[in-house]
Amino acid sequence: MEARSKVKKRLEDLRSQRWLAPDNTRSFAHRQRLQQMGLRREEFMSRPVIAIVNTWSDLSPCHAHLRERAEAVKRGILQAGGMPFELPAMSLGEVLVKPTTMLYRNFLAMEVEELLRSLPIDGAVLLGGCDKTVPGLLMGAFSANLPCIFVPAGPMLNDRYRGEKVGAGTHTRKFWDEKQAGHLSGKEWIVLESHMSRTPGTCNTMGTASTMTLIAEAMGLTLPNAASIPAMDSAHTRMASESGARIVEMVWEDLKPSSFFNEKSVLNGVAAYMAIGGSTNAAIHLIAIAGRGNVSLTLDDIQRLGKGVPVLANVLPSGSNLMEDFYYAGGLPALLRRVHDRLSLNSMTVNGRTLGDNLEGAQCEDDEVVRPLARPVSEAGALAVLRGNLAPAGAVIKPSGASGKFSKHSGRALVFDSMVDLNARINDPELDVDENTVLVLRNGGPLGGPGMPEWGNLPIPKKLLEKGVRDMVRISDARMSGTHYGTCVLHVAPESAAGGPLALIRTGDVIDLDVAAGRLDVQLSDEELEQRRSQWKPDVKKPPRGYTKLFLEHVTQANEGCDFDFLAGWHEPVEPPIY
Ligand code: FES
Repeated sequence: MEARSKVKKRLEDLRSQRWLAPDNTRSFAHRQRLQQMGLRREEFMSRPVIAIVNTWSDLSPCHAHLRERAEAVKRGILQAGGMPFELPAMSLGEVLVKPTTMLYRNFLAMEVEELLRSLPIDGAVLLGGCDKTVPGLLMGAFSANLPCIFVPAGPMLNDRYRGEKVGAGTHTRKFWDEKQAGHLSGKEWIVLESHMSRTPGTCNTMGTASTMTLIAEAMGLTLPNAASIPAMDSAHTRMASESGARIVEMVWEDLKPSSFFNEKSVLNGVAAYMAIGGSTNAAIHLIAIAGRGNVSLTLDDIQRLGKGVPVLANVLPSGSNLMEDFYYAGGLPALLRRVHDRLSLNSMTVNGRTLGDNLEGAQCEDDEVVRPLARPVSEAGALAVLRGNLAPAGAVIKPSGASGKFSKHSGRALVFDSMVDLNARINDPELDVDENTVLVLRNGGPLGGPGMPEWGNLPIPKKLLEKGVRDMVRISDARMSGTHYGTCVLHVAPESAAGGPLALIRTGDVIDLDVAAGRLDVQLSDEELEQRRSQWKPDVKKPPRGYTKLFLEHVTQANEGCDFDFLAGWHEPVEPPIY
């Protein structure tokens, strides 16, 4: 069914015309300065002005191609009658940014919102894909509430090592464990450096990047089937150009986030999240994005909306293939067709059609990569929410990436106070640890990290690796890379640095994990916990100035999305006064 919106705007209604049209000295200066850049008056006076928010940088390998893609977006914008302007925004290359990109997700969101608010922009194309870039771009654009379309950076191409497909991130930890166990030489380890990230593009496993770009697609924020196109495929360039053409139509149609993004869009995002076996990080980002889009979302909502959706995408780390294979198998449309009864098919998307319209004709080309419902990769699910006296406000685990044998487990805690403490002791031959021990790391949360680094996949002690142990129960208030796997309980809230119960436990306490029951408890009485709490003192060192100070004063906990308290949720955008 054709569902294109009708054109609602005239030239004089365009936001950019507030800057450009008036006959006064300020607008004279605006027009004058655009002509200073060599633009003819007619190039900007009678067309929608489109921002291309580009997160390219020389130190962002996953976005190395986005400068070139911006040219394709410009082509599409110009052909559709718009005027493109490229605006650089903070580039959060996941691996190189220290202490963690999560510290800067909200920084990017603020930058995007203020870029769009402060300039004569009518609509925006958002270019990015590496982990925090996706939520950062979407959170900022939702708060600015201008028509916007997201162009996912696309995953890197597959690589192979000794006949085995190797995926970015997932195999790094896998091969490192083998090296620690003495099964891989130093020479092979060096060769592997050039075998896991073959081309520009985001991680080719179902890490946080692919999780978030696919969720964005399911929520209707990209063109259909955009998210899994490999970065280096010519289809990616065509998708970029088409997105440029489409944003111009969206401006005339006034199709802004507040006019179509709602609870149903989030429902579709959660269903996709579960069916792809997505990263635990998405639980935090989804809450923050939904909030900016005026949808209240909790961990329990995610659990409820996703309950019973099995993992169908047979992609690492839950499965065995890579994103390039997922694209050849039909990508997200093929997968969503298989869970269509869990979707809101009437939800509007950026191309002006409903999700149901966009899924028409989608079919799966490879049942091994996008599994049928009768043969899922995992029925255990991509996310389970845990609560108990150790996580009163919640914690999460990815059952599809964990060993089933630990899904109900009681073990003695071995507590590390920080990553420095862990690194100093984890490989000590005298460490009192066995495979049933529960490794605990505290001070890895939003305040403690600071910035909630991806420390949650605590390393297995070397002496256990040598004995063949490859998984243990690990608990922290940190996050875990979406490319990683293991029985890792993450995002414990409230975090230890905020005085959560994780701060109170000691080595030797017994911890009970029961994933099916959704429980995480320490075998301590309320009285004992209270007694320990009375002796606890906060130890967050606040810097005297700068962005980290702002972050520590305003970041919310993991179960609240880690947004800043003064930015979270929906606020009617305030237009700048034009004098
Ligand atoms: Fe950029 Fe994984 S490091 S997507």
